Amino acid sequence: MAKGLDVGTMNLLSARQEGDETVFVQQRNSFVEIDYSDMADQMLSRSDVLHIRKDDQVYIVGDDALNFANIFNEETRRPMQAGILSSDEKSAIPMIKLITEQVVGDPQYPSERLFFSVPADPIDDDTSTLYHQKTVESLLSDMGYDPEPINEGMAVIYSELADKEFTGLGISFGAGMTNVCLSYYAVPVMKFSIARGGDWIDEKAAQATGTPVDKVTSVKEEDFALDFETDVGGIEGALSIYYDNLLDYVIENIINEVDEEDIEEGLDVPVVVTGGTSTPDGFEELFAERLAEADLPFSIQGVDRAENPLYSVAQGALVAARSEEERDGTATAAAASAEDADEAEAEAEAENDD
Ligand SMILES: Nc1ncnc2c1ncn2[C@@H]1O[C@H](COP(=O)(O)OP(=O)(O)OP(=O)(O)O)[C@@H](O)[C@H]1O
Ligand SMILES: [Mg+2]
Repeated sequence: MAKGLDVGTMNLLSARQEGDETVFVQQRNSFVEIDYSDMADQMLSRSDVLHIRKDDQVYIVGDDALNFANIFNEETRRPMQAGILSSDEKSAIPMIKLITEQVVGDPQYPSERLFFSVPADPIDDDTSTLYHQKTVESLLSDMGYDPEPINEGMAVIYSELADKEFTGLGISFGAGMTNVCLSYYAVPVMKFSIARGGDWIDEKAAQATGTPVDKVTSVKEEDFALDFETDVGGIEGALSIYYDNLLDYVIENIINEVDEEDIEEGLDVPVVVTGGTSTPDGFEELFAERLAEADLPFSIQGVDRAENPLYSVAQGALVAARSEEERDGTATAAAASAEDADEAEAEAEAENDD
């Protein structure tokens, strides 16, 4: 059995198949560093909190980092920023390694196939995703997996557009990035990312209203909706403005990047949106409205949101890994039976010669 892994700026998620069910394991991609003390030691030894001790410091990683940060009055830190490993965070690699190990577990057999998501290179930032990709790949290999990168936007197509023959536009609105992929019968014809997502919305809305970023994030995640009532001057009003701005920016870049020759004339493109940032009510309606107003070189069939926006990239990576496994399996079986047939033919010929 193969596995899928979504390596996200805010969340790490694995997906695996157990019978008819897909099982997901999720952890926050964050950690907190606290001073080692008897109190910390007591709290940690009585719990199953993910942590490592290094000299006089203790690192608590994943979902529990936030609780410990509050108790010990420390800030949480993140191994990734804007879709890739953070170059400003010296503990990025050991921390992401620990979280990854917890989320994917050991391989079920040596060199189990594992597809992990990587963003496309951003078009609005000169960072490259290669170092990030190679680092994640090597830590998965060290764990005993046979890893394979899959573009995040393409993973969305695999998980959400199977019934459209893997044709359409898939967009993952994450924390650090927005990943866009246009696929034609499972072949990506356009893929790019922009270095803006939920974090960017939070920072901008925080700046505009003079509110701490964490406060803005919790307002956004708790009860914010993109309905058309305006809350001028408030946090929700600022969030709406930056949501709007992000959607327009995504559409502007789609228009710039798409090559009309890649689109079959008369094709109505299905659009699917996913990722945590697509969660608020009214998101897909707003995006559909903005797309309708834009001067796109193709027509849109409709905009759907993934049933579970946090899970679809991991799910798509799993679908891709399993379909490759099946294909290889069938290919091996086909090769074996072709060999058998050749041998039978050769034997038959040898008999005839006798
Ligand atoms: N209910 C919600 N309403 C609005 N935003 C939300 C909600 N839940 C999560 N988010 C936002 O979604 C983002 C996280 O989404 P997701 O897990 O898809 O990102 P990621 O895959 O970790 O990041 P990336 O793909 O950019 O590397 C964060 O910005 C978070 O604040
Ligand atoms: Mg993501």
